[in-house]
Amino acid sequence: LGAATAYKILSPSEPGSQGRFTEGQVAIGGPFSLVDQTGARVSEKDFLGKPMLNFFGFTNCPDVCPSGLQTLTVALNALGEQSQKLSPVFVSVDPDRDTPAALAAYIKSFHPLIRGLTGTPDEVQAAAKSYRVYYKKVPDPADATRYNVDHSAFFYLMDKNGQYVKHFPHTVDAEKLDEAIRAIL
Ligand code: NI
Repeated sequence: LGAATAYKILSPSEPGSQGRFTEGQVAIGGPFSLVDQTGARVSEKDFLGKPMLNFFGFTNCPDVCPSGLQTLTVALNALGEQSQKLSPVFVSVDPDRDTPAALAAYIKSFHPLIRGLTGTPDEVQAAAKSYRVYYKKVPDPADATRYNVDHSAFFYLMDKNGQYVKHFPHTVDAEKLDEAIRAIL
């Protein structure tokens, strides 16, 4: 449902379309200040020089994030040595639970190049806003101590200058991701 909502927000451009992607005059991507899974402070400037492929989600996600990250892992494995020229990033939209340590534990299940980013709620909100990512806490009606996070689930491919190239739904094939990555390496 989150992805469907975001798709409407992102329309009318087609997913995967070439060129700088805008909604009105607002571009995809931009400044952010977050911490990685080691607790180190990072900004968009730290990712310049290599293309970046990012995906926003959360470590407690039941299926969308694990399947997206699994696809990313397959894509990175298929790239072999070439994968070193890319910065794959998983950005949390659940800063209350996704501490750097929680992210570090979670991303171990996937490709070792994937970095996890999180921050304060305000920092995460600002980063999500830059990428036009929708997310919303949804309380579990059966248990007030639990919640889910509804979120849009796109891969965003940015070039080495931090400019938007393409985005893909989380259901994209690894081959299609690799095709787009190879095209800009
Ligand atoms: Ni998810």
